[in-house]
Amino acid sequence: MARPESRPGAAVRVPLREVQDAPPLPSIEGGFKTILADPPWRFANRTGKVAPEHRRLERYSTMTLDAIKQLPVADIAAKNAHLYLWVPNALLPEGMAVMEAWGFRYVSNVVWAKRRIDGGPDGRGVGFYFRNVTELILFGVRGNMRTLQPARSQVNMIESRKREHSRKPDEQYPFIEACSPGPFLEMFARHAQPGWSAWGDEAAADVTPRGQVHRGYGGGAIDVPHLRPHARIPQQAAQVLGVEFRRRYESGLSIRDLATETGYSIQRIRSLLMSAGTELRERGGANTGHFPPG
Ligand SMILES: C[S@@+](CC[C@H](N)C(=O)[O-])C[C@H]1O[C@@H](n2cnc3c(N)ncnc32)[C@H](O)[C@@H]1O
Repeated sequence: MARPESRPGAAVRVPLREVQDAPPLPSIEGGFKTILADPPWRFANRTGKVAPEHRRLERYSTMTLDAIKQLPVADIAAKNAHLYLWVPNALLPEGMAVMEAWGFRYVSNVVWAKRRIDGGPDGRGVGFYFRNVTELILFGVRGNMRTLQPARSQVNMIESRKREHSRKPDEQYPFIEACSPGPFLEMFARHAQPGWSAWGDEAAADVTPRGQVHRGYGGGAIDVPHLRPHARIPQQAAQVLGVEFRRRYESGLSIRDLATETGYSIQRIRSLLMSAGTELRERGGANTGHFPPG
């Protein structure tokens, strides 16, 4: 599929495709032992900026709670199986209801703590009551099956940076593979994983997910500490940001792009780039020479 021109690292809009019918759930002999699901929950406020089906920012279509509950997951899960179910904080009771409808009993959860580039909590989250910097995976069991041995020393938290709207961290896959046995199925998948069966209306390899995707940079939109115009940046954060800005600058972004994306001044970006030893380009594109760290 032809993609629009874009700079490396820039957030691009891909043309929206038509909603596609999802194929029936896949099945496998003996059933899937581990299922990961990230349903397209429908929120009461469907026009708000964070809603998946926000008109201008259309990301993906959603399903009613009943439609999610009615998916025949119990038919394709093994007799003894694990379920990892992503649930927005506001819909915890609905998540519990889905888990039960699919034939699993809730036993625990895993928290995704969204971090900024410098390791602090990513305060760009949204929420009516609190600013959410975490999301939850409910963990349920069908029949009788303990987690695998490595899970006993696995803390129930994934700490990583966030990416596109609703995109979940890749760290979830090694986490789950270490704690639960295959065969693995991801429901409502958008990015196929080696060794996993994937199902969803955007799961096919030739389908480009609707909405915004970040290319040329695995970590998604940049997230930086909020600073007043002349506030000093802590040294450790300055180093981390310098390296990150350099990587993006060297892959084609301009100082102005970085300033726009982060809200930092041109001067601050320039000095962070220079302290990371970046060779700055002249306006026309040539390098102006090497700036030593300092
Ligand atoms: C919350 S997103 C999944 C995000 C994914 N876990 C990620 O990390 O990128 C929900 C997905 O469910 C898909 N979806 C919506 N309605 C569906 C339906 N009726 N059947 C199957 N998939 C559907 C959406 O298109 C979207 O890809």
